[in-house]
Amino acid sequence: MLSIAIDGPAGAGKSTIARTAAGALRFIYVDTGALYRAIGYHGLQVGADLTDTAAIKALLPGLQVDLRFVEGQQRVFVGGEDVSDFIRSPQVSKAASQVSAVQEVRDFLMETQRSLARKNSVIMDGRDIGTVVLPDADLKIFLTASPEARAQRRCKELEEKGSPMPYEEVLRDIQQRDYDDSHREAAPLKQAADAVLVDTSELNLAESVDAVCTLIRQRLGDR
Ligand code: DC
Repeated sequence: MLSIAIDGPAGAGKSTIARTAAGALRFIYVDTGALYRAIGYHGLQVGADLTDTAAIKALLPGLQVDLRFVEGQQRVFVGGEDVSDFIRSPQVSKAASQVSAVQEVRDFLMETQRSLARKNSVIMDGRDIGTVVLPDADLKIFLTASPEARAQRRCKELEEKGSPMPYEEVLRDIQQRDYDDSHREAAPLKQAADAVLVDTSELNLAESVDAVCTLIRQRLGDR
């Protein structure tokens, strides 16, 4: 089995690029953020206080969170219920970020992620895949873009969804999230020493996918 780790900040295009590359190369695409989102969603559903670490830890005993693949598409389940369609709201993004800062939550999700990579050839995207989850990945990519490029893309997306936000505000949010993600104690976002840096600031989506696929093919060819 081959494993490719793709880490980087929010908004660098990781998920779209990883999903497209996985389709082209016939790997399974694993979006690990969905696991944190599923626990965040569950916490909101049961009314837990997600500012309280003890309350977050109390969610874990007996909790069942797993990923399944339906026609190659990842779905995430909590206690047997498919919650995939409920985890993309801003509220759940915030809840996911809160639960992801708790080490016990990270430990809880570790085996699910590792066992997928043992059983399948995967492209796994997240924040700590190359550094913590799959330190022996066959290829590690740190995918990033400048905060300004990410803010511009996000503004365009929001406009297309019919809920525009001012550029300055979007940029500030991104800078804040970068700071929080890279300064938290548990598995902070950082480039693994042996990761290849791909900066998509000046690349469009097709060029970014191409850059990633080329790296993967080179690595596969080297083996
Ligand atoms: O990639 P995303 O936006 O779906 O991630 C949701 C949250 O989970 C985000 O706050 C970062 C966190 N996360 C993490 O800490 N580690 C991962 N491997 C993936 C996501």
